[in-house]
Amino acid sequence: MSDDPLANWNGVVMPLSEARVSVLDRGFLFGDGVYEVLRIYSGQPFLEAEHLDRFRRSLDKISIDCDVQRLIGRMRETLSHSGVQEGLIYIQVTRGTAPRTHRFPTGGTAPNELIYIEGFTEEPYGMFRDSGGTAITVPDMRWKRCDIKSVNLLANCMAAQQAAEAGCVEALLIDENGIVNEGSHTSVFGVRDGAILTSPLSPAILPGITRGLVTKLADSCGIPLREQSFTVSEIVELDELFLTGTTAEVLPLVRVDGTSVNDGLPGPVTRQLQQAYQDFVAESLSQTR
Ligand SMILES: Cc1ncc(COP(=O)(O)O)c(C=O)c1O
Repeated sequence: MSDDPLANWNGVVMPLSEARVSVLDRGFLFGDGVYEVLRIYSGQPFLEAEHLDRFRRSLDKISIDCDVQRLIGRMRETLSHSGVQEGLIYIQVTRGTAPRTHRFPTGGTAPNELIYIEGFTEEPYGMFRDSGGTAITVPDMRWKRCDIKSVNLLANCMAAQQAAEAGCVEALLIDENGIVNEGSHTSVFGVRDGAILTSPLSPAILPGITRGLVTKLADSCGIPLREQSFTVSEIVELDELFLTGTTAEVLPLVRVDGTSVNDGLPGPVTRQLQQAYQDFVAESLSQTR
């Protein structure tokens, strides 16, 4: 990561370390805001339309009135000034700064709008891409609207911290019926008898943009995919398990709670989708040139 990413804070370009927010910002006080993260490949935002559509939906679901078209202009301008080739775009909009009341402020409060561009100095999951990563399972303690990409990430952060302390890349979030909902910051897929399984879209999970892409890639590779969840006790029956996410891309999981998934090696379906993902990135870049 670069030392001081370039930011656009309410329309003004500045180093991220110089951006300042009021303690009365509703994101700071209540977590009253939403965010989005896009991957940059070769200086280009990846799946821009899909991410910004989800961002609009998140804003609509919590009734924040924000001009996303204006943010897109700022995002592209900041990206181009940053010169970042490989990295992430972070966008966050909160309901703004207002006297503290639980109900929304009445009229005239402008949202606080942050964009910053973070360059990678190394590929974040590079060491696990070939060999696969390991995960733990933890109870899903989040609220009932996980379809909204809200900045309230405490339960996700606690789960990710538990995973890190266990030396794992991810924590799988398990609901009260044993269903594997998703990871703390990734979507989860299993492979059983040649078919891919993943939780159906619902308020229990984030509609992952990479999940959506992988669904299409599976189709074009001729691999059957069912939006059907599996339970934690069914993990032992899986042939393969993998995560998807903007940063994780397609990441094999080879061990959960200390037990190997199948033979403990990344499987052929995961490998095929990793390749299909790389091909899709290359193809999208060739179309922007
Ligand atoms: C809870 C959760 N699920 C899934 C994902 C993956 O979503 P995407 O593929 O859009 O990055 C994320 C990404 O941050 C996440 O936070």
